Amino acid sequence: MKTKELMQKKLPLGLTFSFPCKQTKLEEGILLSWTKKFKARGVQGTDVVSSLTNAMKRHQDLDVDILALVNDTVGTMMTCAYDDPYCEVGVIIGTGTNACYMEDMSNIDLVEGDEGRMCVNTEWGAFGDDGALEDIRTEFDRELDLGSLNPGKQLFEKMISGLYLGELVRLILLKMAKAGLLFGGEKSSALHIKGKIETRHVAAMERYKEGLANTREILTDLGLEPSDADCIAVQHVCTIVSFRSANLCAAALAAILTRLRENKKLVRLRTTVGVDGTLYKIHPQYPKRLHKVVRKLVPNCDVRFLLSESGSTKGAAMVTAVASRLQAQRKQIDKVLALFRLTQEQLVGIRNKMRVEFEYGLKKDTHPLATVKMLPTYVCGMPDGTEKGKFLALDLGGTNFRVLLVKIRSGRRSVRMYNKIFAIPLEIMQGTGEELFDHIVQCITDFLDYMGLKGAQLPLGFTFSFPCRQASIDKGTLIEWTKGFKATDCEGEDVVDMLREAIKRRNEFDLDIVAVVNDTVGTMMTCGYEDSNCEVGLIAGTGSNMCYMEEMRNIELVEGDEGKMCINTEWGGFGDNGCLDDIHTQYDKEVDEGSLNPGKQRYEKMTSGMYLGEIVRQILIDLTKQGLLFRGQISERLQTRGIFETKFLSQIESDRLALLQVRRILQQLGLDSTCEDSIVVKEVCGAVSRRAAQLYGAGLAAIVEKRREDQGLEHMRITVGVDGTLYKLHPHFSRILRETVKELAPQCDVMFMLSEDGSGKGAALITAVAKRLQQTQREH
Ligand code: BG6
Ligand code: GLC
Ligand code: GLC
Repeated sequence: MKTKELMQKKLPLGLTFSFPCKQTKLEEGILLSWTKKFKARGVQGTDVVSSLTNAMKRHQDLDVDILALVNDTVGTMMTCAYDDPYCEVGVIIGTGTNACYMEDMSNIDLVEGDEGRMCVNTEWGAFGDDGALEDIRTEFDRELDLGSLNPGKQLFEKMISGLYLGELVRLILLKMAKAGLLFGGEKSSALHIKGKIETRHVAAMERYKEGLANTREILTDLGLEPSDADCIAVQHVCTIVSFRSANLCAAALAAILTRLRENKKLVRLRTTVGVDGTLYKIHPQYPKRLHKVVRKLVPNCDVRFLLSESGSTKGAAMVTAVASRLQAQRKQIDKVLALFRLTQEQLVGIRNKMRVEFEYGLKKDTHPLATVKMLPTYVCGMPDGTEKGKFLALDLGGTNFRVLLVKIRSGRRSVRMYNKIFAIPLEIMQGTGEELFDHIVQCITDFLDYMGLKGAQLPLGFTFSFPCRQASIDKGTLIEWTKGFKATDCEGEDVVDMLREAIKRRNEFDLDIVAVVNDTVGTMMTCGYEDSNCEVGLIAGTGSNMCYMEEMRNIELVEGDEGKMCINTEWGGFGDNGCLDDIHTQYDKEVDEGSLNPGKQRYEKMTSGMYLGEIVRQILIDLTKQGLLFRGQISERLQTRGIFETKFLSQIESDRLALLQVRRILQQLGLDSTCEDSIVVKEVCGAVSRRAAQLYGAGLAAIVEKRREDQGLEHMRITVGVDGTLYKLHPHFSRILRETVKELAPQCDVMFMLSEDGSGKGAALITAVAKRLQQTQREH
């Protein structure tokens, strides 16, 4: 550093340390054992990175930061991968021998995580130390081992690498000479000396053309007087020993290549092997032989061998450079994701605030200003099982618009349903109210035709999943559109009237519209039909909302104190008064600003399917701007609103998907991502959906706690009926929701019941009950 005038600079350092080390991170390595010619005391079992750091601390004028420890095989692979991106194997055939390769994380039990790949240093030199090679080890191998620094260890390496090849040749020659097969029985004393024949000698003797002359010279230098036949025989011994070495190496390498091919599930593998090491470099025939045997052993691999020209240190420096870039990037990414992490304390705070909003909405004085509207629904009881008949139901406001025929049979609590899904084009969702309702009636007409029911005057229940002010079960004034709807001339109007008028305009059939219900209410009813303990309805879908059964005496807006009524909380509006500003991120703000209803439905926009993907997209745009993703290029696709639908979010986060599949999903979405990008995208999705599930949990905990306290119970059991694509499709949402509720409402035993049949069934049941009540009223 002095000669290069680098003393004043703080530099990141990469250390190539070519011995077996146990690593739990890139910048640490516990030496497992010395190999080759090293045997320094007090190092085995310690971290060589801290030893080097400590040694450097003793030089006050040195300021370096060790960021990476790599084996020479790894450095070689990286050096070569810089020139050839196919390089995924590194081999050293030098003083020692060893190989590394890129293994799928899902196959590495020792390291947590299943994403991507990691380089594994095989330390194949120790192959055979358990006896696996005994059938091919010769008396010369045994003798060599006994005389080595590490008897019984590195047995494969001792049959292959440069430190041992010359010695093997010497032992063989010695035995042949002793048996009178060479040098006319005469033994030179030099032949008795360990280490007298080195790899460079073997290489020289095997040289094409000059080989024979070299052999004579080398043997003469050892004090021998070889005949021509002796020289040829000695050459032959060298060839046998070095050929065995190349063969063994090829076999081991073939095992690695086969594994790579199988990991990738390919019929043919195209790959590059980076190689370094003196034996490979100086021995005239070694590379050719190795390549040939490898190709013979793995005919279904197209292997390129790339000699590492600049050693393994260039690679080590590159690993260090990458580590230092990743370290900086990781910090930036963590900073963003930390915004989405909610502490237990924050969640308790959110639960408590939600509770306050419930009370606000229920009280007459505060109701007009309440952001959580707590709308009475005039649904007062559960079906008693005596309902029966045929009903039509409409289900509008979720991912799908459905028209249903529901046949309820009395007594047996059994329901049969027929339904058809219709699309509502965007231009209708955001066109005029008349167009929207004409379209709905058109769909009903199609359905009646399809079912052969034209002319039947059936009672109809209308699931309309938007906030409606109701004065009775069959009247609902739309307060304001939410989610993706924005049809004109509807807000402030009774949607039942609008539907009736549209039917009149059509003038083909008549229907008896008996009930208008929110999807939460429909869902609660669907589930309540099976489990009478179901007193909460939850939607985690395109939108976010919850309803529950409240004591009449607590509902100041409706007269009467007896019994219960279902309240549609419209909790999506929670936070619209600014009470969630402390957890509202810049990304939430951007999503809000780009939405159809800026400033409204804050809680919904942090929790529901329609917006989660948008939050993810905003984060990805920001990370890309910071140069942390997609090579800093914001593609047109990434600028497209709505690309991350709930189903994609759910797929990306699925644990069963390998990284490549995540990458493929992103590619389908038009996002050209690397494996590293895919990991980050998945993390972002996870942070956003986790926060959503936790926020849902806090809201739900608020309602069950309220119900428990209102009833003066120490402990309460309650069932929550749930529906919505987010809840149904997302791999982790429901679990995190459950866990959060358990933590925030420990005195409640909350059972979640998935609504299998949608809210249309519930709407039909509500219609049936209303119809029954209508009739009894008429009879009196
Ligand atoms: C359906 C219900 O199953 O779920 C709808 O029948 C409800 O009424 C919907 O609106 C909610 O989920 P999503 O994901 O479709 O909005
Ligand atoms: C020895 C070391 C190994 C190294 C190889 C080549 O086998 O144990 O770590 O890669 O030599 O230098
Ligand atoms: C929106 C609507 C609400 C509905 C919810 C789920 O929040 O305002 O009425 O229940 O979405 O679909």
